[in-house]
Amino acid sequence: MTYDIKISPSILSADFGHLADEIAAIDKAGADYIHIDVMDGHFVPNISFGAPVYKCVRSASKKIFDVHLMISPTDAYLKDFADAGADIITVHAEAGPHLHRSLQTIKALGKKAGVAINLTTPNDVLISVMDMVDLILVMTINPGFGGQAFVPASLKKIADVRRRITESGRMIDLEVDGGITPLTAKQVIDAGANVLVAGTAIFKDGPAKYAENIAAIRG
Ligand code: DX5
Ligand code: ZN
Repeated sequence: MTYDIKISPSILSADFGHLADEIAAIDKAGADYIHIDVMDGHFVPNISFGAPVYKCVRSASKKIFDVHLMISPTDAYLKDFADAGADIITVHAEAGPHLHRSLQTIKALGKKAGVAINLTTPNDVLISVMDMVDLILVMTINPGFGGQAFVPASLKKIADVRRRITESGRMIDLEVDGGITPLTAKQVIDAGANVLVAGTAIFKDGPAKYAENIAAIRG
């Protein structure tokens, strides 16, 4: 199976005062997905925004809304995130005791289901969900903030997840998130990632540079 490289700009680094324009700009600049980071100040030490915010800007792009939930608990809110216009909903394996149930709920809502794993979460947590996930997100930083440095130890983790995906025989996106730059993009692609989230590296220079920055990450 061959996977195209997809770039998912994280709007956490966008200008929230002009969010719809920012999303339209990264769409036009070549984004494949739009990465939406939802943080609750409990699962991670930061608060971003919830479903009502991205619902308001959903019409700014027809691209895939790739919603990364850094919240705990998750299940009571999944319908809201689906109704607000998510295409992929990713929950953290560490966010609750019943990951399989959360993924079942996402699938029942008709959305693609993703599971995210933190740096120190054993990859074996994936064993019982490999047959149902559409995306596995390997964190390459500790979640909570944009602008952090890539953790090189995550490369082994990515390679191991890619091996598990290949063995499953299923088409599953392997997404990475945190500290992705043109340099680390090459490393994570070599390790087996095919969906790259980037915030700082794409938004840092303003809209005139979005296309160039996306292209640099895509390599
Ligand atoms: C962090 C978020 C990331 C973050 C990435 O918890 O999940 O999506 O915005 O930002 P950069 O690319 O700046 O590391
Ligand atoms: Zn994210």
